[in-house]
Amino acid sequence: MYAFIQSTSKDSLFHRAVIIENQYGVYQWQYIHNNSPVGESFSDLEDAVSILREARLKWDNPKAKVQATDGILELRKGVSLFANLRPVKVTPSLINSTPLKPNIVKDVDLLVVRELTGGLYFGQPKKQWQTSSGRQAVDTMTYSEQEIERIVRMGFELARNRFKKLASVDKANVLESSRLWRQIVTEISSSYPDVELNHVFIDACTMQLIQRPGEFDVIVTSNMFGDILTDEASVLAGSMGMLPSASLAGLPSGKTFGLYEPIHGTAPDIEGKNIANPIATILSTAMMLRYSFNLITEAKAVEDAIETTLEEGYRTPDIWTEGDVKVGTEEMGNLVIQKLKY
Ligand code: IPM
Ligand code: MG
Repeated sequence: MYAFIQSTSKDSLFHRAVIIENQYGVYQWQYIHNNSPVGESFSDLEDAVSILREARLKWDNPKAKVQATDGILELRKGVSLFANLRPVKVTPSLINSTPLKPNIVKDVDLLVVRELTGGLYFGQPKKQWQTSSGRQAVDTMTYSEQEIERIVRMGFELARNRFKKLASVDKANVLESSRLWRQIVTEISSSYPDVELNHVFIDACTMQLIQRPGEFDVIVTSNMFGDILTDEASVLAGSMGMLPSASLAGLPSGKTFGLYEPIHGTAPDIEGKNIANPIATILSTAMMLRYSFNLITEAKAVEDAIETTLEEGYRTPDIWTEGDVKVGTEEMGNLVIQKLKY
């Protein structure tokens, strides 16, 4: 097994597929639900979609024991996908789709490396209970030295192969887990003298990301901070519907096991409306081709097809501005397929 893909494509619906290589060296895929295969061909898509729609309706109840998000968190943790890579690049054709001034976003090319299997998302205790004076709840932000070290090393390695700048984002003026994070980052930095390191507080980082986003290269941060920062960073790229991600169990090598998903959630509020932007999902498949299958030309072909489609003025509603051609989810997907050349 080489990779998972989770997407909100097919009209923003939550579904997953697992990609496997068969005995003939051919890549096949299967839709999965509750860890069991649903189907093996595109004609099974409708079945998979209705099974998952039913399941999702059940999960939509906020009082239900199992929440829709539990599935994805379990999946990430279960296969140790500790590193979530979220690249943010502003394509020239989308410069006018962001609410920020073009000269602020024009040079944006950054990569957020988010720790994905620890921190506030998974720390114990994590519960709600009743006390004599009312209800109470706790979440725990905990990090071990090993957890910090592996993600920070990943940040340095990736920065070394990009523009050699690393911003480590924490809240070390308040949080003990951030103080440990900062100590470890400082210790590891001595092995990377070629990478310029900056420690940035999360609150200041949210501001700098809007004021001068072009100055960031790689940002390494904890699970919760990375979740928040990447939603903010998606505004730079025009929309959340534009940002792909790769969740990996090790440094990207071309054969790395990974889960590929857009940075946004399942967007149940827009399900069935044919307005979701499928580009983040399609760009995630390009990351999969590059990081898990070493298919660099094919990955580039997918990215180029998206670029051509955008250059020709086609936009889903989230990135649409006056003068563009407004298209739905399905049309956008088909247009990208039409432009695909390899
Ligand atoms: C993300 C999403 C998820 C997260 C949700 C859907 C659980 O917001 O991938 O950023 O918080 O990690
Ligand atoms: Mg998020």
